[in-house]
Amino acid sequence: MYDLSGYKIKDEPVILGIESSCDDTACAVIKGRCVLSDEVMSSAALMEKYGGVVPEIASRAHTDAVDLVTKKALEKAGLSVRCVDAVAATYGAGLLGSLLVGLSFGKALAYALRVPFLAVNHIRGHIASAYLEDPRLMPPFVTLLASGGHTAILHTVDEERFEVLAETSDDAVGEAFDKCARVLGLPYPGGPNIQRLAKEGSATITFPSAEVRDKSALRFSYSGLKTSVMNYCQRAEQRGTAVDRADVAASFTKAAIDPLVKRTVEFALALGVETVTCGGGVAANEYLRAEMSRACSEHGLKLILPALARCTDNAAMIASEGYNMYIRGMFSGMSKNAAARIPLW
Ligand code: KG4
Ligand code: ZN
Repeated sequence: MYDLSGYKIKDEPVILGIESSCDDTACAVIKGRCVLSDEVMSSAALMEKYGGVVPEIASRAHTDAVDLVTKKALEKAGLSVRCVDAVAATYGAGLLGSLLVGLSFGKALAYALRVPFLAVNHIRGHIASAYLEDPRLMPPFVTLLASGGHTAILHTVDEERFEVLAETSDDAVGEAFDKCARVLGLPYPGGPNIQRLAKEGSATITFPSAEVRDKSALRFSYSGLKTSVMNYCQRAEQRGTAVDRADVAASFTKAAIDPLVKRTVEFALALGVETVTCGGGVAANEYLRAEMSRACSEHGLKLILPALARCTDNAAMIASEGYNMYIRGMFSGMSKNAAARIPLW
């Protein structure tokens, strides 16, 4: 937990955040950077039997949960809905039907309360989760964003300027974890299950690195790595030899994560930026967290790792980015629509 001494929250606004971009319906209440409540109702268990998220089922689950989760968040925060100064909700990127539920609910709530509405970019939310860990965080900082939908190294230059330093040219790293899990016969969601299995093995198999260097820029690519894991398992099956699944999980994890850690630290050093942050579901990975901590301390960089529950999708991060928008007066109109795909910035 961060030290709140010296951080004055008395006059800070109360922001209610809503997140519904995938299979988690979440609502959080924050005051300034201080999280008063952070509730989530997940339909992940329901999706397990389908081996992934079914959009229509996810939308229906959001419809059932959004009202309840909001009531719970206000109750846990010990606040009446009248104390809310602004409502923030994710408008993209994500599953359209899912986004529409949280976004419409958020707009209606803001309209009824006559408070500003803040339409939040989900990715910016993941980046803003670091502010909840350390309310004194200020740009510039470099972020490793590693989620199920995105993989990028980003530079927050100042309050207004952001740069994409490197990103994936195909699959996201979380997607690769989920696909590799399927190849190894592990249930959805794959990331945490690969992590569990990897602990029983060692990274003895050399899979191709997830890094691609073309002439112009550094890129990541996860489709090659995923295919290589698939081929390795199929070849062993054809030969009739047993695959050590734990070694595959550990070796895949290393190949997927090492280049992300190495390049994030290199970018921070090259830019003269002293702070590194992480965000996205894969930032919950123990190996990533240990490697990033080791590399940052080796190079004298300050690292901000969000708590595990703030790496995967949550509403506190949406409220946190809502706060950034609120203090800059970046209010959204009621005509703001949901969008399945939006640029990072
Ligand atoms: O950020 P997130 O909750 O949703 C998106 O915005 O995509 O990320 C979900 C992804 C999934 O692919 C999941 O398998 C992965 O994060 N994930 C993990 C771990 N926990 C979640 N990957 C590796 N290790 C974990 N411990
Ligand atoms: Zn996410």
